[in-house]
Amino acid sequence: MRIVSVVGARPQFVKLAPISHAFARADLDHVIIHTGQHYDPMLSAVFFEELDIPAPDIHLGIGSGSHGHQTGAMMAALDDVLPDLEPDWVLVYGDTNSTLAAAVCAAKTHLPLAHLEAGLRSFDRRMPEEINRVLTDHAADLLLAPTTVAAGHLSDEGLATRTVVVGDVMTDVLMSVRDRVLDRNMVSPIATELGLEDGSYSIATIHRAENTDDPRRLAAVLDSLRNVDHPVVVLAHPRLVARSAQFGLELGGGALLSHPPVGYRELVASVMRSRGVITDSGGLQKEAFLLQVPTTTVRPSTEWVETVELGWNVLAEPGPALVHAASRPRPADTEATPYGDGHAADRVARALQRGL
Ligand code: UD1
Repeated sequence: MRIVSVVGARPQFVKLAPISHAFARADLDHVIIHTGQHYDPMLSAVFFEELDIPAPDIHLGIGSGSHGHQTGAMMAALDDVLPDLEPDWVLVYGDTNSTLAAAVCAAKTHLPLAHLEAGLRSFDRRMPEEINRVLTDHAADLLLAPTTVAAGHLSDEGLATRTVVVGDVMTDVLMSVRDRVLDRNMVSPIATELGLEDGSYSIATIHRAENTDDPRRLAAVLDSLRNVDHPVVVLAHPRLVARSAQFGLELGGGALLSHPPVGYRELVASVMRSRGVITDSGGLQKEAFLLQVPTTTVRPSTEWVETVELGWNVLAEPGPALVHAASRPRPADTEATPYGDGHAADRVARALQRGL
């Protein structure tokens, strides 16, 4: 059985790691296509190296652009390669423009399409990712849902018969990297570099268009981070760096320190040794929860509602609410495991082998 994975952006490389290992264990013929959406080495190559992912078989080299240009260029390039590969499944991941491009291309060329991380909803249609996930779910033949909440959303949209709950593959990769960090007693390279003590700092990531692309909103976010009562290290995504420079905003001052993005192992080690996470990323909210680190999410909504319900994640608007939330004490420990047992990727392999 041949499965073609289409990936292009940082969170997809993280999800691809456990999938590529599970497919190898199941002896599946796995072809990897990289669209090129993320091309900086620290957003792309470092993940393939650190997480032992085979190099992409095909690299489309599409790169940046407006949503239409980027997605359209990917679709055109995929049209030229996907059908010739004669896949039994095209597998798409998450909610980026690479996901949508491959989903539309597969559906229109009548190739069986499976969506990993199906059924997530923020119910915020202004997020490009929300549009990407809704359209991809409705185009797909097999919906691989990470949680029962996600499966419930798919059922509400009439998609229950195509849905299988497999658990969350990010739990698989996080658990194995966490164990490696603990075994090797790895310290946070960021904390070492910046001279910060364990448990004294928060790690921040801000890159969503809703936060970065409006100068007033971005100024308010950065101002809040400066006013937190302990050091906040922002791992600056290229979009954040570009927009801050464009709007004349400093990525520093007060509590705020800036650092380039890091690889996955460094991120896990740094979050494990931090006192909190401040983010607008989807994946990091859940990773922090799994590492038992309190999170403040700079968005009005989240797809990972379990993290909020269990008391580990607080949604906060820029301003006093964000400053206050980022300084709050740790909640009570939880034994809940809403994101699976670390074996989701093997379930994905079995679901694809079983078919519809
Ligand atoms: C994309 C995804 C988002 C995901 C995020 C992870 C979409 C709509 N969004 O957002 O869901 O959480 O990836 O990082 O697909 N750039 C570089 N180097 C790179 C990549 C991007 O400099 O390697 C710059 C470009 O100027 C680009 C900007 O960053 O215009 C934004 O990149 P883009 O691919 O549009 O989306 P992300 O913000 O990374």
